[in-house]
Parts: sequence; structure tokens; C-alpha cells
Amino acid sequence: MKNILSVLEGKKPEHCPIWLMRQAGRYLPEYRELRSKSGSFMQLCFTPAYAAEVTLQPIRRFGMDGAILFSDILVVPHGLGYALDFREGEGPQLESVGSTLPVFDKAVFFDRVRNIFETVRLTKAQLPPHVTMIGFAGSPWTVACYMLGGKGRDEFAQARARAAQDPLFFKDLLAVLVDATAFYLKEQVKAGAECVQLFDSWSGLVPDALFEDWVIEPTRQIVAQLKKDFPLLPIIGFPRKAATHVMPYVQKTGVHAVSLDETVSLAGMQDALDAKIIVQGNLAPELMRGPEKDMLAAAERILSSAKRPFIFNLGHGLTPEVPPDHVGALVRFVQGYRVKT
Ligand code: CP3
Repeated sequence: MKNILSVLEGKKPEHCPIWLMRQAGRYLPEYRELRSKSGSFMQLCFTPAYAAEVTLQPIRRFGMDGAILFSDILVVPHGLGYALDFREGEGPQLESVGSTLPVFDKAVFFDRVRNIFETVRLTKAQLPPHVTMIGFAGSPWTVACYMLGGKGRDEFAQARARAAQDPLFFKDLLAVLVDATAFYLKEQVKAGAECVQLFDSWSGLVPDALFEDWVIEPTRQIVAQLKKDFPLLPIIGFPRKAATHVMPYVQKTGVHAVSLDETVSLAGMQDALDAKIIVQGNLAPELMRGPEKDMLAAAERILSSAKRPFIFNLGHGLTPEVPPDHVGALVRFVQGYRVKT
């Protein structure tokens, strides 16, 4: 049984399913080995045999219920023609958008990112039958933050200033990203992705009065475009640090599931949300660094307060210093947990 898909379809799973954001990555020695063999992060992402292997590494080692495509949210701007590079210790270097808008041409875009779809195909072919293939993209706001020359370090001051100074240009940029992202996700689904997650990692930086225009509306449009072609495709939204905007985000965008960061109350959200909305996430990522007993106690609290089929995940991604053994212990604990009746 594909437990993640079952939960997303509103069915009862065999056990509480688990996958972790950034479950493939530098905390795993086998990742670091392939990463250095590939030469660069971009080579790793764009060589389907390598990227598929990296996607499968955590599944083989720990047996998670979901495999997330190994790629990056900045592949969409790369597909739109902007130069992208990842330098060790510096994070992503993305050519910034000048005064002209990107042009989204389906054929050109497809050609620049076609290897990613090949990775999905290759991974799916090697995936154990009970594991769900998860596709993903960044949300327009979060991707635009990087495209306007911003850095996470200063909370994207440059991007936010440009968006505020030229709101019409920014609105048009978001519109291009809506179309490119919907197309990109549809191609992942055609290649074998069984559900998709939209990462809005920086939605907590959006000024209150603009949340509707910059986060909710672009996300709603992507969801609508996906539903038109794939009415049954489960879509998970991750409006990180969106606080009180999480509720309207879920209600207005039409996502099937919501991934919660660690600052949101899981029980409170489950009470407030429509019963058909699936909830994921909520474990504070810093607990993964240890001690193991604190991590497992927090996992137990989440599992016992989750009121309906739930997908176990973190509030944000795994970081490079997490001991692999902790990840193994968490996966075993969650999959072995039985709700007390
Ligand atoms: O395992 C998975 O979750 C799948 C792979 C994945 C990566 N990035 C690989 C990656 C996913 C889903 C992402 C999404 C992503 N990328 C987000 C949204 C999620 C989040 O973390 O908030 C964002 C904001 C990015 C942009 C990005 N990519 C940054 C800021 C960085 C540098 C920071 C860092 O951790 O180095 C990256 C690089 C990156 N993306 C790495 C990995 C494994 C590390 C690169 C390396 O190995 O050198």
C-alpha cells in the first residue's frame, strides 16, 4: 500500500506515513560521495542517473514512505534562461532579473529542464511499490525572492524593495512564474510524480496586506491549472511561517494538504480546517540534531495529537549536521506507532 497516497486520498493507511524535507542531502555520506563525483550540484541535478540515485539513497537506508525528486526550486528560473550556480558554503548564485520580464516559451523551457523529468522517470522505475513519488516546485513568491537578487541572509531585502517599488512589474513576474511552474509540475506528473508539493519557504516575509496577492492568488492559479489537467492529483502546500495566513491559504488556494512549520499549532489547525484537508509536518527540525530521546518525545506528542490521517514530516528541511542514525530512529518510531484506542 502506498501510505502517503492513501492518506492524501482520505483513506486509512497501514501506518502513519513519513517523509522528510531535504531527506536527500549532505547529512548522508553516500550523498557527499556522489556529489563530489558529479563535480557540482548542478551536474548532480541535471544528470538523471545521479539525481535518481540520490533520490533513492534515503529510501534504501531508512525506508521512508515517500521519495522526493532530487532537484531544486531554482531549476524554474534556470529553465527561464537565468544562469544558476551553487557554490560551496555560499548557497545559490542566480542571475538576477533586470528590467525586462522573463519570457516563458514552453518548448525552450522544456528543453532546458528535460533532464529533471528523466530523473522522475528513472526514479519511479526503481522505486519500491509502496513508496510514493513526490514532485515539487517553489511557489512564485519564494522563487521571485531569489530571482530579484535577494539572499536569505538579509531576508531578501533587495527583492522586497523591488517588489514594493514596482508592483506592476512584480505582478507580471509572478504571472510568468505561475505559468512556468504549472507547466513544470505537469511535466513531472506526466513523468511519474504521484503528488506534488509547492514550497513557499519565504511566505512569512510577505507583508500582511499583500499576502493575498503575492502568495494566495498565484498559488490558487497553479492549483487550478494542475487540476484542469489532473483532477485527482494531490497537491500539498507549504506556506512556511505564514502564521494566521495558513487558514485562508488553505481555504482559498484549493490545495488538498498543508505542510505545517513548527510554529503552528497542529491540534489547533486540525480543529479549524475542513475535515477533508490533510495535514503534514510540524516537528521542529532542530530536534533532529539530538538528543534522540527528545526528538522521539516530540514525535510522540505529534502522533498522539494528530486527529486524523496525517503525514509525518518536519517543519522545515533536514540540515547537514543531523546524525543519520537519528533519521533512522525517527522513521522506525513513526512507522511503528499505533494509535491508542
Ligand atoms: O531531499 C529533498 O528535499 C529534495 C531536494 C531539494 C533540494 N532543494 C536539494 C538541495 C528540495 C526539495 C529543495 C528545495 C529548495 N531549494 C527550497 C525550498 C525548501 C527549503 O529548504 O526552504 C529552497 C529555498 C531552495 C534553494 C536552495 N537550494 C538554497 C537556499 C540552497 C543552499 C542552502 C544549502 O542547504 O546548501 C540550495 C542548495 C541545495 N538544494 C542543496 C540540496 C541538497 C545543497 C547543495 C549541495 O549539496 O552542495
